[in-house]
Amino acid sequence: MKRISILGSTGSIGTQVLDVAARLQDRLQVVALAAHTNVELLAEQARRFRPQLVSIGDESKFVELQRKLLDISDVEIVAGREGWLRAATVEDADQVVMSVAGTPGLIPTLAAIDHGKEIALASKEVLVAAGEIVMRRAREKGVSIIPIDSEHSAIFQCLRGEDPGKIEKILLTASGGAFGNVPKEATRDVTPGQALAHPTWKMGKKITIDSATLVNKGLEIIEAHWLFGVEADRVEVIIHPQSIVHSMVRFADGSVIAQLGLPDMRLPIQYALLYPERVNTGLPRLDLLKVGSLTFQAPDLDKFPSLRLAYSAAAAGGTMPAVFNAADEVAVMLFLDRKIGFLDIIEVIERVMARHEPIQSPALDDILAADEWARRAALTSVQGEKIAGF
Ligand SMILES: NC(=O)c1ccc[n+]([C@@H]2O[C@H](COP(=O)([O-])OP(=O)(O)OC[C@H]3O[C@@H](n4cnc5c(N)ncnc54)[C@H](OP(=O)(O)O)[C@@H]3O)[C@@H](O)[C@H]2O)c1
Repeated sequence: MKRISILGSTGSIGTQVLDVAARLQDRLQVVALAAHTNVELLAEQARRFRPQLVSIGDESKFVELQRKLLDISDVEIVAGREGWLRAATVEDADQVVMSVAGTPGLIPTLAAIDHGKEIALASKEVLVAAGEIVMRRAREKGVSIIPIDSEHSAIFQCLRGEDPGKIEKILLTASGGAFGNVPKEATRDVTPGQALAHPTWKMGKKITIDSATLVNKGLEIIEAHWLFGVEADRVEVIIHPQSIVHSMVRFADGSVIAQLGLPDMRLPIQYALLYPERVNTGLPRLDLLKVGSLTFQAPDLDKFPSLRLAYSAAAAGGTMPAVFNAADEVAVMLFLDRKIGFLDIIEVIERVMARHEPIQSPALDDILAADEWARRAALTSVQGEKIAGF
């Protein structure tokens, strides 16, 4: 029995982790669940999976959660920052699934690593912001980080039994998002609703908008750099609208190994939860004859300047990727609130990055400060107020 703690259990990834856990009841036991605001769903999950610990990030919802779980006597209910840390380090957990949206996952990930927990990582922002620190800490503690992101799970699978020193290139596939076939100018006035209509994947709001701008792919370039120790400029993005080939690795001899599957996150999730075992849990099968054709094309860098920004954030290094990520988080929120247009998302990120002087080999405090500065700079760049450079 593997015992798992899930941080972000109420999200798109978190609910799919629980779907997989339900299929594997004889192999997986859920020992802790943590969410941020969705008390209703968290309570429902607690009733179904009976963890020993349930954590709600938003402390104002603590009493409501307690009330909803009054009749369950053997569950400990915690809240706030302390609650997150308890869920990340709960003694009985073998693995912590990190599926929180954005950088709030960073501190709990480090806490879980410090407690020797294996990490199943969906929260790519954690590695983008602090990849050097997280990977170093994991190495020191002998902790494995197993990717959940479908592309990185694919690369991880392609590299099994291979010498990482023989990687020539990582070929990172991208669906192209909601506006893959729409000319750039025609996206100027798109609404959040239109940008949220992803053609192949059903995901949380932030990552769906990031897919439409291709910022998500930019974040994934940096994520791949840290996970697989390959320089960002050897991670090449290829548009593959069918989302069947989840990514590929080209090796020193010219061979390319790919991993294929339906666009269904439960497959990479299951792989991460049971690694290195493969088990039949009845997930739908890929039928290539039904798919018919798989197509690949180069990304249009004029239409998607986000890729250029991601490569330049990676090249600048230090605190710059954290700034790239934080500015994007704020810009996406402003777009979803209809405060800025779709194309303004990239402009906001670009403006904030242009004003940042990165600190190299940053300590955790440097990253947290850069993240906070970038959030304020992104907000003020839209509101027109002045803020000092960092
Ligand atoms: N969705 C996908 O298919 C997919 C694929 C690959 C990678 N990922 C990555 O997985 C992560 C989660 O994505 P998602 O699509 O599952 O997001 P989501 O549906 O928006 O869910 C986010 C989860 O994080 C919690 N959360 C939100 N704000 C928080 C905060 N400030 N502090 C702590 N927790 C907070 C939410 O809790 P409440 O709902 O209770 O507020 C929820 O459980 C992201 O890093 C994303 O890039 C997602």
